[in-house]
Amino acid sequence: MQQHPDIDKAKIFADFSSHVSSGKARFFQSFQMDFVPGARGGCYLHDIEGDKQLLNLHCNGGVFNLGHRHPELIEVLKNGLDRWDIGNHHLVSLPRAETAALLASLMPGDLNYAVYGVGGGEATDLAIKVARAYTGKSRIVSAMGGYHGHTGLALATGDAKYREVFGPQAPGFEQVPFGEIDALQQVIDDDTAAVILETIPATLGMVIPPPGYLQAVRRLCDERGVLLILDEVQCGLGRTGKLWAFEHFGVIPDMVILGKGLSGGIYPIAATVLSQRLESVFHADPFIHVSTFGGAELGCLVMKRVLEISSDPGFLAHVNEMAMLFKTGVDLLLQKHAGFLIGLRQMGLMMGLELKDELAGPIFTKAAYDNGLLMLYANNDKRIVQFLPPLIIEAHEVEETLVKLDGALSDAKSLYDQMAKLS
Ligand SMILES: Cc1ncc(COP(=O)(O)O)c(C=O)c1O
Repeated sequence: MQQHPDIDKAKIFADFSSHVSSGKARFFQSFQMDFVPGARGGCYLHDIEGDKQLLNLHCNGGVFNLGHRHPELIEVLKNGLDRWDIGNHHLVSLPRAETAALLASLMPGDLNYAVYGVGGGEATDLAIKVARAYTGKSRIVSAMGGYHGHTGLALATGDAKYREVFGPQAPGFEQVPFGEIDALQQVIDDDTAAVILETIPATLGMVIPPPGYLQAVRRLCDERGVLLILDEVQCGLGRTGKLWAFEHFGVIPDMVILGKGLSGGIYPIAATVLSQRLESVFHADPFIHVSTFGGAELGCLVMKRVLEISSDPGFLAHVNEMAMLFKTGVDLLLQKHAGFLIGLRQMGLMMGLELKDELAGPIFTKAAYDNGLLMLYANNDKRIVQFLPPLIIEAHEVEETLVKLDGALSDAKSLYDQMAKLS
């Protein structure tokens, strides 16, 4: 792809290092990963200067569910710019109303209200605020290794390593192991407002909930008057082959957190979806929570089209078809690379490659990059490499992915063996 002739990558790195993040610049340079995204489209990212191209299997955790620069979304945004702008978040708004109505129609039960935000952390914060205000209770229970963002209350739900350095800790938060109903049962008390979980925890390594777990969580919450918040920032919007991941488990949460993919990768937007009764929290003062850019009107136009595309039965059938192709291909790789590649965690195109140990995940990430694949190990379980292709991936690109994965696994294994000998 044609790149701009005046691009000076050394200068980009220098400016980034001096004015954005010296640590990130150093990190990537130290691993000879000097990729700077330039042209992009569909499943691919191209380096801004050189020939390197990466097939994006990271997708920023689902931001690029519909690939890069989906033509319909670009058109919606361009046309939108002829008429709309961000809008005023205090006023009644056509795009906000229409988009929320569509979202409500795609949710089960009475999940009828959307509070817009800009990102997943903000949407999580709002869910926790609503839970506390509605129940009049304070404690929030989350999963160890789970991740809901780096903003105030969202940060408080996460692991200590992300919070401790930043000073005094917010009170009222407790973590339990994901998948263990007894542990949850033990910590819930009369002051528990909500349980918050990712339906499939991504940063913990695409952990598929054990059979019956989420149903048991739902039952327990009902028995104890506790609200259930499910975070579908990564696993929602068709990623698992159903529009919402919780549909696989026969549960309906009281609140759903959405972000990333709602943006179509071109206009930041997030939403906290509330069941009907919870909206009463805002009856006394509807302006008690606001977000200037949350639900920007241009963003709503994009989000509406994202919802239309993602909920199309043909689209979801495509996701399931591609998921089957990956399953078949990875099963062969499991045989070929036995001992190094241990397993595949999969629900639709929400996938994780399980490698032999915590050293293997980071090594594989670099080998994948060298083989033209953008993939990242899961930060809270480095044995697992997150595997999130764009949902618009086609069969020939699945084939290409599998060939490159094969190469990356061979390279990673030799590097791993060399390092093991040295240590
Ligand atoms: C499951 C989940 N929830 C929430 C968030 C936070 O979203 P954001 O970075 O938009 O604040 C993330 C981000 O990675 C996430 O993966």
